[in-house]
Amino acid sequence: MKKVVAVLLALMMVAGMVYAEDLITVGYAQVGAESDWRMANTKSFQDTFTPENGYQLIFDDAQQKQENQIRAIRNFIQREVDYIVVAPVVETGWETVLQEAYDAGIPVILSDRMMDVSDELYVAWVGGNFVKEGETAGHWLEDYLEKQGRADEDINIVTLQGTIGASAQVGRTEGFGNILAQHDNWHMLAMQTGEFTQAKGQEVMESFLHSYPDIDVVVCENDNMAFGAIDAIKAAGRTCGPDGDIIIFSFDAVRAAFDAMIAGDLNAAFECNPLHGPRVAEIIQKLENGESVDKIQYVDETYFDTTMDLEAIKATRAY
Ligand code: AHR
Repeated sequence: MKKVVAVLLALMMVAGMVYAEDLITVGYAQVGAESDWRMANTKSFQDTFTPENGYQLIFDDAQQKQENQIRAIRNFIQREVDYIVVAPVVETGWETVLQEAYDAGIPVILSDRMMDVSDELYVAWVGGNFVKEGETAGHWLEDYLEKQGRADEDINIVTLQGTIGASAQVGRTEGFGNILAQHDNWHMLAMQTGEFTQAKGQEVMESFLHSYPDIDVVVCENDNMAFGAIDAIKAAGRTCGPDGDIIIFSFDAVRAAFDAMIAGDLNAAFECNPLHGPRVAEIIQKLENGESVDKIQYVDETYFDTTMDLEAIKATRAY
C-alpha cells in the first residue's frame, strides 16, 4: 500500500513539474502599496498572471524604493524568468540594470511609469498620458472658474506633488503647468511632494494652510493625497469642494474619490487607469506568437466632476 502511495505521489510531482515548466514566468517589480490606485494595479496583475492563464507570476513590492526594484530585477534575471515587467518608481537610474536584463536576453516591459533609458533596453511601455492628464485638469479649472464668474480673479494655487522624479509627478506637474502659464492671474504659491500617500498629503497640506491663509485651489497629484488634504482642510476649520471655499481636485479617480465627490469634499478626479495586467499579457502573447508590438501604448482616460451622475458612474467602475 505504502509503495502505491509513493508511486502516486511521484507521478503527481512529475506532472506538477511538467505543468510548472509550461508556464510563462513573469517577474513584476511593483512600486509599492502607496495608494488605492497601486492596490488596484497589483490586483490586476495578480488576477491576470495566474497558472490557469498560463503564467507564473513572481511579484515584488519595492516599498517605493528604487534600490529594492533594482534588486528585484537582478533576482528575476538570476531566476531566468521569461519576461520582466517594471513599474519604475522614478524615471532615471535604470540603464545598468536594464542592460543586464538585455544581455541575459530577457525582454523588459515597462508599465505605468516610464524610464529614461535607451529604446532598445525595453520592448514596450503601456500606461497613462500624464502630461495630458495635467492639461485636462488645467482646462477643467479654466472652465470651472469661468462658470463661477472668477476667470479674471487672482487665483492662489498649491500643489501636492507625487514622488519627485516619477513619471506621474513629472507629467502631471508639466501638464498643469502648461495651462497655468497661460493665465497671469493664476499664482502657484507652493509645490511639495506628498509621496502619493494620504498621510504625507495631510502633513504637507497642514503646513500649506499654516503658510498660506489665502489658498483658492489645491492640485493633488493623486487621490490619496487629496483624501489627506481634505482631512487637513477640515481640521483647520476650512471647507473644500463645490460648496466650500477651497477648490480641490486629484488624479486617479478610484472609488474612494467618487465617494469624496459625492460627499461634496472633492471637485473633480482625473482618471488614470491602473488595470494594466491584461494589457501587458496581450503584449506578452503577441511576443510569444512572434508578432510585433507597439513600443508606446497610451491608455484612453477621462475625468469626472460633481456635475455628473457620480453614483451611476461609480457603479460601473472596476476600481
Ligand atoms: O503612477 C501612477 C500613480 O502612482 C498614481 O497616480 C498613484 O496613485 C500611484 O501611486
